Amino acid sequence: MTRLVNLGSLCIDRVYRVSSISVPGETVASKSFSIYPGGKGLNQSLAAAKAGASVSHHGCIGTDGSWLKDVLKSGGVDESGVDEVAGETGHAVIQVDDSGQNSIVIVGGTNRTIKADKVENVIATMSNDDWLLLQNEINDIETVIDVASQHNVHVAFNVAPVDGREQNYDISNIEILIVNEVEAAALAGVANPNHALETLTERFPKSHVILTLGSEGLLYGFGRERDQQTAYAVHAVDETAAGDAFIGYFMAGVLRGMDIPDALRDGSIAGAYAVTKQGAAVSIPSREQFLEFQASLAGV
Ligand code: RIB
Repeated sequence: MTRLVNLGSLCIDRVYRVSSISVPGETVASKSFSIYPGGKGLNQSLAAAKAGASVSHHGCIGTDGSWLKDVLKSGGVDESGVDEVAGETGHAVIQVDDSGQNSIVIVGGTNRTIKADKVENVIATMSNDDWLLLQNEINDIETVIDVASQHNVHVAFNVAPVDGREQNYDISNIEILIVNEVEAAALAGVANPNHALETLTERFPKSHVILTLGSEGLLYGFGRERDQQTAYAVHAVDETAAGDAFIGYFMAGVLRGMDIPDALRDGSIAGAYAVTKQGAAVSIPSREQFLEFQASLAGV
């Protein structure tokens, strides 16, 4: 069976509900505090597995994060490639305001301690049909991309979050590139999303470029091919991990052989569902919840 191999982050999310996100110089009181499993890597692995894909997650946690392996396992992800190492598990400090918008600070922790031999071993065991999924929350992404290229494996890369390192990556062999507006602007050097899409598709002719626009939907480009999809209107409770739910469900569709526009539609439904729930990984729909939600959207 074709596998999704995710070499990605795992985080402990410390989530503070606030009336409005603090601005520079301001102190705000939180209305509640919760700890959730998170990390773009973990969230995307769970989403893909919930959507029915065969997923192996590879990464590093500290002893304080062993429960994250349990979260992956109970979500149907093969977590045997997650190593417990010295140091603290990566974590995120997240403010979520009354409109569901967030502000996130990440601390890399053990997500930044993945060794070169692990990268080589993970990629060397992939078959030609498998897909490698990456986010920008681990160390040495440049090397990971190079090794993947040497082994000729399919790569999907969510360049999130951008932190300057992405300017040095060789993206030319990445088959699926997923960016939001901010990430697209950083990579393309152009703020307007339509212009950024033009720049990225021209610069990376082998890449299917997906540019997500939150409540405005998404843009898709591959060579001269273009598609545009609107987002589903939902009552936003917490936008955290909506993008991860989108990517997991989208990638599961790609692995099943769906056409890209159809897989994108599945991703958008999962992302819209996640926005209506609190938390990151815990807001990702199971396949049943997805189907029920899809049916409710059709009835609107
Ligand atoms: O995409 C949401 C995720 O970003 C959170 O779970 C947090 O851990 C950060 O990595």
